[in-house]
Amino acid sequence: MDALRDEPVSVDVEHGLFVLRTPNSIYALRIGEDGSPRHVYWGEPLDVAELREWRSPSHSSFEADPAPDELPIETGARFGPAGLRVRFADGVRGAQWRYVGHEIEDGVLRIKLEDRFYPLACELVYRVRRDSDVIERWTEVRHTGADDPADPDSTANIAPEPIVVEHCDSASWTLPKQADYRLSHLVGGWGSETQLQRDRLPVAETVLVSRRGTTSHHANPWLALDAGDADETSGQVWSAALAWSGSWRIAVHRDPVGRVTFTGGYGHEAQTFRIEPSERVVTPIFAGLYNGDGFGGTSRAWHEYARRHVLPHPEEDRPVLYNSWEAMGFDLTEAKQLELAGLAARTGVELFVVDDGWFGARRDDHAGLGDWTTYPGAFPNGLKPLADEVHRLGMRFGLWVEPEMVNADSDLFRAHPEWVVHAPTRQATELRNQLLLNLARADVAAWVYDTLDRLVRENDVDFFKWDMNRPFTEAAWPGAPDPDRLWAVAVRNVYGIIDRLREAHPGLRIEGCSSGGGRIDLGMLARVDQVWTSDNTDPVDRIEIQAGYGQVYPAAAMAAWASDSPSPITFRETPLRFRFHVAMAGALGIGGNLTVWSEAELAEAAGLVAEYKEVRGLVQRGVAYRIQTADGVSGVHYAAPDDSEHAVLVWRPTMRFAHEPAPVPLPGLRAGARYRDLFWGVTYSGEVLRERGLELGLPAGDYASRLIRLVRVAE
Ligand code: GLA
Repeated sequence: MDALRDEPVSVDVEHGLFVLRTPNSIYALRIGEDGSPRHVYWGEPLDVAELREWRSPSHSSFEADPAPDELPIETGARFGPAGLRVRFADGVRGAQWRYVGHEIEDGVLRIKLEDRFYPLACELVYRVRRDSDVIERWTEVRHTGADDPADPDSTANIAPEPIVVEHCDSASWTLPKQADYRLSHLVGGWGSETQLQRDRLPVAETVLVSRRGTTSHHANPWLALDAGDADETSGQVWSAALAWSGSWRIAVHRDPVGRVTFTGGYGHEAQTFRIEPSERVVTPIFAGLYNGDGFGGTSRAWHEYARRHVLPHPEEDRPVLYNSWEAMGFDLTEAKQLELAGLAARTGVELFVVDDGWFGARRDDHAGLGDWTTYPGAFPNGLKPLADEVHRLGMRFGLWVEPEMVNADSDLFRAHPEWVVHAPTRQATELRNQLLLNLARADVAAWVYDTLDRLVRENDVDFFKWDMNRPFTEAAWPGAPDPDRLWAVAVRNVYGIIDRLREAHPGLRIEGCSSGGGRIDLGMLARVDQVWTSDNTDPVDRIEIQAGYGQVYPAAAMAAWASDSPSPITFRETPLRFRFHVAMAGALGIGGNLTVWSEAELAEAAGLVAEYKEVRGLVQRGVAYRIQTADGVSGVHYAAPDDSEHAVLVWRPTMRFAHEPAPVPLPGLRAGARYRDLFWGVTYSGEVLRERGLELGLPAGDYASRLIRLVRVAE
């Protein structure tokens, strides 16, 4: 029994109980009497000996075993959303498991199951780590029809026909029973990504989904559940995030007697595929987190997990970038880019990115996508002279690409009309005048890799902004034996291309973009350095977008620009300082037209960039405490993990006459410590700042903001 207490993964064979332990949570499951893994517990640490006898109470013989499944199947008296839906060649539907063993290695638990009759094996996989409360889960399914028939337990005596997988989730999660439930999730659209939505969970099945072939702006594959009593600083919160950048689906089921289970994974309805003998399906990771410190604690635990186990280079400072897309659109010339590069370098920019419009016949969004050769009208000598000058100015050189796309008006489409995702009998939908390349095809994926590899080599590219501006429609794959595979294979091939490029060019850094923030998820964050959060750079709108993004994803990967005023999207006019202060909460960039900024504005910008560089280690690698007051102030407090320094960014978009905001409590500070405000030179005690709060000293007027820096001083 001692083993059950100490190890990250342990098993009590006698009681058929498996226990996963993270620093601040316990997760337990058992093998049910029918051979299916059943959920026992997920939450606060407790004496695991207690779990041995835990059973879900049965209320009547009209209902079957009420213990929730670790991955619901379709056999037995199960009527909720299934996590695994399969159909065998004889038309029989649903798996029926027998438990065949388990394996524990390096914090990974594999529960091994086999169908009682058909050649189907399944592993439910769990990974826990000693430095994170996040539990990673995924599912592996295998057609065992080619296994050795001499094995007496083998199911290979069944004719090895393909098995149809209608849906295979990564994991299903169950909460301890609560008196009530509330669902937090992220919704949005283009220009209004990651809006936090918080609603009472209905007694129903609630489906969060993207059917777009991408993560989507409209729903993000993250959710949090609480009993309706959690707040920013306290309360129990169960949350989960799916590491997948294509279509996905999470079904949350609150049953009429008050139990909540949610099941999630890749693919939306009706994306079925067949598996052949010996073929294996491995789902993406669906990571779950229990946290007892409210929504703030939950976000901090996700950020830390992303930094420790997801982002490729968490230790690196994200460079301050410049990008002229918003200021100049497609109107690129070498001369203008050179002028901008000179001004950008003067303001302290470290990475100069050339956006859309540098290639092919790309004068607007009607033509040229797919033709990744420089447009000679804009760059008569190619991109190299610009790249060289950018490097000479001490900046890195970045380039926008949209490699998964093609315009019908392009040489690529004229040469390879068969490369696009299309159904010959259907009218092809064009969105932003473009079509989708079928990245699931090996030849198309190879062409994309070669094209990007060539661009890096020929132009000394240090950074790609990798865009993806339209969803899948009429998603057919003519001639393919199993066409629905398109959806998942295309995503995996995009991952594969990025991974290979990074391996071939270790210095290359990548920003993920999809019409702004349409492809933000842990799958993408595992292979890009940052994501473009939104095409909306209006600082007032950005406050909400960034707060939603920060529920789960880390500030280091949140690209944020200070742009022109009025905002090209909302037409709101805001001061330069306010625009910078909002963008300084992430990986700072500048998107404004520097050629029309006055000398005073350029100098102010340079000062703000220099200030950002002093705090960016805190912003990008610190511990984030959100600030949101009832009197209209919001912001983020970034604390050094060792408490030595703190940066507090606060924003107040509007002011009411004579309403000075109240001091803002900073619960991230330590009670016994003292801190000096570097601007005023005043020293405060940790107790005062935690309980009474920090006087913000915001200037009068609308769009007031400040960056407040505190350092811990000796007592
Ligand atoms: C998308 C991106 C923008 C910009 C344009 C270029 O909309 O989100 O930032 O790169 O494409 O066409």
